Amino acid sequence: MTRFKAIQRNLAFTRFLIFVFVNLLIVNNITLSQVRTVRDFDFGWKFSRGDFNRAEQPSFDDKSWRVLDLPHDWSIESDFSENIQFGANNGFLPKGIGWYRKTFTVTNNELSKEIWVEFDGVYRHSDIWINGHNLGHFPNGYTSFHCLLSGYIQKGLNSIAVRVDNSRQPDSRWYTGSGIYRHVRLVMTDQLHLMNNGVYLTTPAVSEKNAEVKIKTSIVNKHFSLRSGKLLSVICNPDGAEVARLETPFTVNSGDSIITEQKISVTNPLLWSVEQPRLYTLKTLITEKEKTVDDVITRFGIRDIEFDSMKGFLLNGKQVKIKGVNLHHTLGGVGAAVPEAMWVRQLQILKDMGCNAIRTSHNPVAPEFLDLCDQMGFLVMDESFDEWKYSRSTLGNTITYGYHTYFDEWHDHDLTQQIRRDRNHPSVVIWSVGNEVQDQADPKGHETLKMLIDICHREDPTRPVTVGCNYIGSLKEPATLEFLETLEIVGYNYVDRTGLRRELYFSLDKLAHPDWKMIGTENSSVYSYRGEYSLGDDPNVPVADYTTLMIDPGELWKFVATHDYVMGDFMWTGIDYLGEARWPNLNPPCGVIDRCGFPKDSYFFYQSLWAEKPMLHLLPHWNWNGREGQIIPVLGYTNCDAVELFLNGKSYGEKRRSFPRKSPTIVGNWSTYDPKNLVTTTDLHLSWDVPFEPGVLKAIGKKNGQVVVVTEVKTSGAPAAVRISVDKNTLRADSRDVVHLTAEIVDKDRNVVPYADNLVEFSVEGGGKLIGVDNGSHRDYSSMKINRRNAFHGLCLAIIQSNGKEGTIMLSAKSDKLVEAKVTVSAQK
Ligand code: GAL
Repeated sequence: MTRFKAIQRNLAFTRFLIFVFVNLLIVNNITLSQVRTVRDFDFGWKFSRGDFNRAEQPSFDDKSWRVLDLPHDWSIESDFSENIQFGANNGFLPKGIGWYRKTFTVTNNELSKEIWVEFDGVYRHSDIWINGHNLGHFPNGYTSFHCLLSGYIQKGLNSIAVRVDNSRQPDSRWYTGSGIYRHVRLVMTDQLHLMNNGVYLTTPAVSEKNAEVKIKTSIVNKHFSLRSGKLLSVICNPDGAEVARLETPFTVNSGDSIITEQKISVTNPLLWSVEQPRLYTLKTLITEKEKTVDDVITRFGIRDIEFDSMKGFLLNGKQVKIKGVNLHHTLGGVGAAVPEAMWVRQLQILKDMGCNAIRTSHNPVAPEFLDLCDQMGFLVMDESFDEWKYSRSTLGNTITYGYHTYFDEWHDHDLTQQIRRDRNHPSVVIWSVGNEVQDQADPKGHETLKMLIDICHREDPTRPVTVGCNYIGSLKEPATLEFLETLEIVGYNYVDRTGLRRELYFSLDKLAHPDWKMIGTENSSVYSYRGEYSLGDDPNVPVADYTTLMIDPGELWKFVATHDYVMGDFMWTGIDYLGEARWPNLNPPCGVIDRCGFPKDSYFFYQSLWAEKPMLHLLPHWNWNGREGQIIPVLGYTNCDAVELFLNGKSYGEKRRSFPRKSPTIVGNWSTYDPKNLVTTTDLHLSWDVPFEPGVLKAIGKKNGQVVVVTEVKTSGAPAAVRISVDKNTLRADSRDVVHLTAEIVDKDRNVVPYADNLVEFSVEGGGKLIGVDNGSHRDYSSMKINRRNAFHGLCLAIIQSNGKEGTIMLSAKSDKLVEAKVTVSAQK
């Protein structure tokens, strides 16, 4: 919680710094107001589902439409239904067509400006109109795009309309959301200006003593005459102090653009790393006759990345094993329209697990997600496509309207936009241009791959390109050798999927192709639904045998961790996502965190392998009424050397695991006998057979003989009260920030009741509004946009967003016959 608050504070501070830079630039002793205007364009839209004639016209009557703020996902507003066509793919939520309209004013002065509107993501097939004039059609729901409004804008009132057509289904293998689900901005600047995403910055030579920063700046002149001026680049260190600057004269012809190259040295640079994600700021200004006409700010990191066929991935010269997760773009309660603060929370939970890397499966993410990865120290595999020329199918449905239908026409545009937008992020270390594309097995697939790699390197030669391949070594339609040899890093999805490489994993290919660089792009995690345990005799519990599910992922991790040439692995998945499940399930059990951010046992399995801080987790719960005397296997996930387990004070023995085998806990080496350090398992988990009796399971974890952690699991009594907790006590009153309220059903002694499914009703008064509820259940079909939710295995979540007002927010959660809980949060500007 403390680290989480620290992140919040850092973000607030970062925003403050940017605010200061943006609004008051002191350069060469000239104080400048920012000249580029960036208007937040999220607020005050009109929206209606359905299709409408002439709704693009300013005169269209939209009085009966809803007023809402973006980001917005209309699909998540409905109940889940078995009757939704292709529901297994699209999350059993409706799709269809929707329209958005907004009016805004432009002053006479502003009319002379270059004006464009930026959309971070609209799902999908969007058409944009300004004052009835069509500005284009954008099929891909994940690519950011911008539309030039200049020429169609008038003084006074203007009207923008967006038609979103998500009616052609199925178009995806997972839940996508529908609508303008990311931010929108209106940008106004001089006719002589910096191109959109026109600052590109690399750090080609990095040492502890010095870093060379190379900047390519694209300057556009839309004036009717040739223009000359100066390009000024100012670099500030992570504390905000200026450390270097360079001024370069330029001349641009009318209607033309130029790229100006600059090289700036930064001495004693503070390097960006996973542990210390230190960010520099570049301020770019263009001046004409000593007057600044345009300016932008770019945050960047100074770091060196290297990919070696024997040593794996190196960051600033040091080997870093990639401990990664795959993530889709949606979260519980809000679907695709995820406020930044929700990602902050989820990413912090992953960070605490020891995760250091994210693969953005299988599409570009929101830009603020990458900002967070920069700030919080995650490595990112930035992925583009799930389909190229071939369609895919899943759960019995061919994805008829997937990306393959417009790959030929749009891949260059989409990939170029993604790379130009994302290439300054220090967190982004690898481009992935595809996931499990059928083209990997096509004799001509490598040509398509080469074409995509060339686009990546045209826009950014500094990062290698991979594809998540699932047909490597397959007997039927294997990935072609040409395809694999064209890859700059060979990406393995499910390295032993065919069953032919069990426990050999990457080694067969390494022997055959020593020069290949290898990474696990996707492999199974420990699949489970939170809180569900089967003892093998309960037909209603869908997930089997909690005692062995971790063995396969554990064996793979043993291999990855002990072979330097494997850069690491991204497991599937960090967080549960909607879609890709057959009714009656709404989501598959892949995530180690459920949709709400509540960790499953599997979370602690990875934490025991990936995190340094001593931890010890026990499973399952200890409420097995009616099974007294029956053996219940108790498992321990831990990074301690030794754990002793007790039930009601009686010891069930001390167990030890050791990994890797030559660990510091073993004196000498593996074959040395040391009675104090006897290892009892080569598995990555500990296990005890315990005859059930109600009471307290207690485990004591030791490192180097010292007790470092004690964990208890108690048999709970009946539900007695709702207990609530919030992830922050102060919310920014900015209509964006979010507080997460966790409700737990507890017994009279405040123990969480693991089987509780009581209906909890939330209320919010004051400076906040409820924007979603969830409980992580794969079988709860009610809408996430109402004010109540059943607990699922004792827990549920409410998400409350600032409504812009300052003051106290009163939150409460009540449930029939249980003691109600209340908490206040302060909303401050
Ligand atoms: C992979 C695929 C993922 C997801 C996963 C489900 O093959 O790349 O998108 O479908 O399987 O297990």
